[in-house]
Amino acid sequence: MSVDVTQQYKTSSNLRTRANLHRRYANKNWFEWAYKHMGFRENSKIADIGCGTGWFWTANQHVLPNGLDVSLLDQSAQMVAEAKGTLEALSAVQRVSGYVEKAEAIPFEDASCDMVMAMHMVYHLSDPDKAMDEMQRILKPDGRLVISLNSTSNLKQIYEINSRVFDVAPVDPSTVIAPPADVAGQLQQRFNSITLLTYKDIYEIDDAETVFATLTSYPPGNEATEAQQTQLRAEISKSLEEHHGVMSSPHEVLLLVAQEPKAV
Ligand SMILES: C[S@@+](CC[C@H](N)C(=O)[O-])C[C@H]1O[C@@H](n2cnc3c(N)ncnc32)[C@H](O)[C@@H]1O
Repeated sequence: MSVDVTQQYKTSSNLRTRANLHRRYANKNWFEWAYKHMGFRENSKIADIGCGTGWFWTANQHVLPNGLDVSLLDQSAQMVAEAKGTLEALSAVQRVSGYVEKAEAIPFEDASCDMVMAMHMVYHLSDPDKAMDEMQRILKPDGRLVISLNSTSNLKQIYEINSRVFDVAPVDPSTVIAPPADVAGQLQQRFNSITLLTYKDIYEIDDAETVFATLTSYPPGNEATEAQQTQLRAEISKSLEEHHGVMSSPHEVLLLVAQEPKAV
């Protein structure tokens, strides 16, 4: 199952739908947790590849070091415009530029960035090896590449429901497209040092409509027939009943920090 990235992220509406689930059930803040492990430094040059809406930056606006020069890149013009507007209002960000481009062809100089971040986007890459080469190419020798992606246990109960209605595996679909072990392997080919960290939260999910909205915000649920939508609602209700109204499900994200780029 592939995602039509152009349509999926034409606007931030699908991302916002999924963010509702996290806003409703999260017990901690993923963006704040990630920031603490990324090693931001004052006056550094950062490339945010697949920047989306820029929510990471808003969440951390009060702890960012000063003098940041941030290049925002996304294949979606609307995402770049939204993120750029957000970052322009942050005092820690001295300079911000936006690029409507693909990660597979990054228009930045070799060895020009202190940090390259690619958060929750590697499973959308049409050519992951080319994009990884590009991200490595633009890093300074002492720079770091930070990648986040969902773990295979992420929101397990929700994806089990999905698999009862659609012909999909009962796991987070992003981990089928880009298995975390494959992504780690791609980094190992290009970097001498890789640190893997795991973010864990437990969601006590009790609202059927929030689950339905999440599962119909991306494939295959976004193209569900009326009959499939009815079946999906029924399966969600059944699951909630089986769990006495509350499904406990892990929200689990992997953070890979790669350093010491190998010579190319
Ligand atoms: C799930 S969103 C993540 C947004 C943001 N990084 C975050 O963590 O909140 C994925 C983003 O990657 C972008 N994207 C997907 N494939 C891309 C590619 N090949 N090149 C550049 N951007 C891409 C999408 O347009 C979308 O904004």
